[in-house]
Amino acid sequence: MEKARPPEAPAVAIRKARMSDIEPIFALVTEFSRQERMLPRSRADLYEGLRDFVVADLGGRVIGCGALTIEWDNLAEIKSMAVVRRHQRRGIGRRLVKACLAEARRLGIGRVFALTSSPAFFEHLGFARVPRESLPHKVWSDCIKCAKFPDCDETAVAIEVPPRGRR
Ligand SMILES: CC(C)(COP(=O)(O)OP(=O)(O)OC[C@H]1O[C@@H](n2cnc3c(N)ncnc32)[C@H](O)[C@@H]1OP(=O)(O)O)[C@@H](O)C(=O)NCCC(=O)NCCS
Repeated sequence: MEKARPPEAPAVAIRKARMSDIEPIFALVTEFSRQERMLPRSRADLYEGLRDFVVADLGGRVIGCGALTIEWDNLAEIKSMAVVRRHQRRGIGRRLVKACLAEARRLGIGRVFALTSSPAFFEHLGFARVPRESLPHKVWSDCIKCAKFPDCDETAVAIEVPPRGRR
């Protein structure tokens, strides 16, 4: 007798976030912020920043997220980059960062940075460590919300984003 085939595993899609993603994004960011891996974000903050977010969608379930927030002239920040623990190390974080960089390129933003507890992850993706003092003061407005302020242990990393067609 012919064996029943298992249903195909749904592929992970990277897409812009929508309203129904707020709760899973909130859960992911809250989980990792409790482990001091990233800054916490309130629901109000997430509603305000929803258009910045991309998510990794596995069959309708959000298993990763990340945001690109415009900070200053020609400068944007990648924030709240997170992948559900059991889906980590499968290239999803890389795809989320790439989607953020593609958005930066589309917007004509030439430099993207992150303040991160995982600098090695960003270095794998072509970012380089930079002195925190090289970032404009406005960037530090979020830091006041952090329990560790002013003893920050995050590392600043940045990457240049050349316009399409230039390397
Ligand atoms: C950091 C994080 C988003 C990475 O997501 P991921 O889906 O596991 O990453 P990927 O599988 O796409 O990894 C991309 C590359 O980075 C490397 N990498 C991933 N996490 C790494 C880490 N913590 N340290 C060193 N390298 C890492 C991978 O080996 C891979 O390199 P390769 O392509 O040469 O093999 C995920 O581990 C996470 O959610 N961590 C907890 C929250 C956090 O620390 N967020 C960052 C703060 S903003």
